[in-house]
Amino acid sequence: TKRMPVVAANWKMNGSRALVDQILRQVKQSGVCQDIEVVISPPATLYSYFDQQRKNDSLEHVFLAAQNINELDSGALTGEISVGLAKESGCQWVICGHSERRSLFNESSKVTAQKFMKALNAGLKPILCVGETTEEHEQGKTFSSLTAQIEAVLHLGGKQAFKDCLIAYEPIWAVGTGKAAPPEMAQEVHRFIRGMIGSICPETAASVRILYGGSVKPENAAALFSQPDIDGGLIGGASLVPEQFIKICQSA
Ligand code: G3H
Repeated sequence: TKRMPVVAANWKMNGSRALVDQILRQVKQSGVCQDIEVVISPPATLYSYFDQQRKNDSLEHVFLAAQNINELDSGALTGEISVGLAKESGCQWVICGHSERRSLFNESSKVTAQKFMKALNAGLKPILCVGETTEEHEQGKTFSSLTAQIEAVLHLGGKQAFKDCLIAYEPIWAVGTGKAAPPEMAQEVHRFIRGMIGSICPETAASVRILYGGSVKPENAAALFSQPDIDGGLIGGASLVPEQFIKICQSA
């Protein structure tokens, strides 16, 4: 089975309407979204604008992802955004459990699993981010850390939960550091993750897309994406520079 590559841009707390315009223009001109799925995740204040502009540009197949949602449907939660609000603003995908949510906002694997299930039940596609800390990496605990993060979703959603999701492997020591994981090392972890998904939900193992994230740049993207179990990337810093992001898309 051939898996369709995915390149996703996570703008984090960056970007502007002008950047939305630039990125859509360059995606259109380059034609990259004919061969891969392109996903953009701007800050929540730009969701609706992005959704409008992609329709104006006839780029409906450039997907819009929420960076985060709350695990509850509504309520007195000042500043939070529910899955319903994200969906109404045009989001089709949701990033769940990004390492910055886990570390800076103390979100546990359990809360991440709740968000994942909210997205799935609303008909949105979750991108489950998993990754080991620097300490776990140094202590050889990468696989056990990833296992616990994936099992939290299994525990809440059962094996069906894995049927229509993506996984993003982001080793925390590689996020925003300029030091991507060496391609062979990343491949080993991706193969482990695919094996684990296969043991949970065998029919999904061959089709589930597993993205690599952590200091992907135009210079290293092709080597990473050519690994057999790496199906694309989740791009932070380089996704804010349209020329770089397009080059990364062309490497997938
Ligand atoms: O979601 C994206 C990742 O956190 C990677 O960020 O490409 O700036 O290292 P980065």
